[in-house]
Amino acid sequence: TSTPPALASPQPQASPVPVVEKAKRLAAWTAVDRHVLPEHKVIGIGSGSTVPFVVERIVSQGKAVNKDRVFIPTGFQSKELIVNAKLLLGDVDQYPVIDVTIDGADEVDHDLNAIKGGGACHLREKVLAEAADTFVIVADYRKNSEVLGTNWTQGVPIEVAPFAYAKVLQNLHLIGSPKATLRMAKAKAGPVVSDNGNFIIDAPFPREMMQDPYTLLTRIKMLTGVVEVGLFCHMAKAAYFGNEDGSVLIK
Ligand code: 5RP
Repeated sequence: TSTPPALASPQPQASPVPVVEKAKRLAAWTAVDRHVLPEHKVIGIGSGSTVPFVVERIVSQGKAVNKDRVFIPTGFQSKELIVNAKLLLGDVDQYPVIDVTIDGADEVDHDLNAIKGGGACHLREKVLAEAADTFVIVADYRKNSEVLGTNWTQGVPIEVAPFAYAKVLQNLHLIGSPKATLRMAKAKAGPVVSDNGNFIIDAPFPREMMQDPYTLLTRIKMLTGVVEVGLFCHMAKAAYFGNEDGSVLIK
């Protein structure tokens, strides 16, 4: 008599991790491995969907090294990430000098200038980027371009004082962004409000203006009512892009 073969019990199908998510994780892990060193005690954590992989990798460095570190968030989302990972939370007013800040970006050009603010966090993100000895960007392959505004077409995110938004919009139209608009919450429930209580304008500019992001940044920043501009010029030391084929491009 032969024993019948055991019936295999049905296994739940693991849902495949989308290529973009793998690319984000790869960029984040590579950047952490290269830039978050054991001697680093104050670490800035940016915002967006790539940053959870940064925290994931930092946690994997172990409790021994992380117990002597403090983590500074760029907004509500990264604060939650830090707290949920049981890492020590700090603030930039306590720690105005940061060893390394790692953050995502909406687009990065050939010169490491970046558009940021897709998540309306760019004021705090810029403060943490500036406070850091080393500021590093992590992103997937879709964020890499020669000229800003090529892939990220919705425009430069601009944080404005609510009282001044109409005037800023009018001035943005005059300086070259006729399609600048106030960012609205989903279902048009009202304007998006940043963690700082301000409104966000998205201002697309023609390619010739985006080719010189520093000049554009200074022009926008001069407009009364503008709090911060989502153009990060000459700030990043490196950018890591996870590719579809599992490689990482380092700029
Ligand atoms: C938020 C940001 C984010 O870093 C940027 O939008 C990138 O996010 P993601 O990693 O989800 O693509 O600037 O203000």
